[in-house]
Amino acid sequence: MSAEPDQNFRLEQACATDDSIQQVHAQLQKSKPEKKGGYPLLPLGILGLMCTVVFFGSIYLAHNSLRFDPLVYSEQASREKPGAVKVVALTRAQLGKKVYDTTCIACHQATGLGVPGVYPPLAGSEWAQGSEERIIRIVLHGLNGPLKVEGKDYNNVMAPLGGVLKDDQIANALSYVRASWGNSAPEVTPEAVAKVRAATADRKTYWTAAELEQIGQ
Ligand code: HEC
Repeated sequence: MSAEPDQNFRLEQACATDDSIQQVHAQLQKSKPEKKGGYPLLPLGILGLMCTVVFFGSIYLAHNSLRFDPLVYSEQASREKPGAVKVVALTRAQLGKKVYDTTCIACHQATGLGVPGVYPPLAGSEWAQGSEERIIRIVLHGLNGPLKVEGKDYNNVMAPLGGVLKDDQIANALSYVRASWGNSAPEVTPEAVAKVRAATADRKTYWTAAELEQIGQ
């Protein structure tokens, strides 16, 4: 009676002999694809393509970037024939429009006419077109108190911008002001701004028109 389960167990064991296991394994191995040596070709191809793009991209940049000089910008470069790249160097005044449009426009307006009685005009202004020593100081440290522009009186406050604008941004903005809306005065260089900034480093308060009239021509 008790011999029956034992017999079954032995029977099962007998079914899976070493030979039969080997046979099954041999069959399974045959049905698997043969393994090739080396790397798969597709990723290698993509890697090669990327290297080629980076290589020729670097050559292209080296020839066309002009060392990423911000003063050199050619909008048309890509449309012209290769080898005939025409470089358009923007003037300070053209570069300054961007600074003016973000920093000065709120008060002095796009027309440069300001707001009557509140913000003085830059268009036609004797200040804007006058001594650069004065207008650099105005932008660096601000201006307040009574002021006469084009025969009209103002008495307001312009905040100092020397902390937010760099020398070249101030030079560009002032150059734009001096060459726009019929204004005609020499451009202002970053070197001139740097010089005034250094000479007035101790200045902690706004200028007054009376003070500025003592400075410059
Ligand atoms: C928050 C308003 C405001 C902003 C922004 C501002 N200004 Fe002024 N600006 C004034 C006011 C107000 C005066 C006159 C101050 C007074 O009455 O003493 C003035 C005066 C001037 C003057 C001398 C007077 C004249 O009309 O010619 C110049 C030049 C000038 N600003 C240039 C600039 C430039 C350049 C910028 C931008 C970099 C700028 N301002 C940004 C308000 C502003």
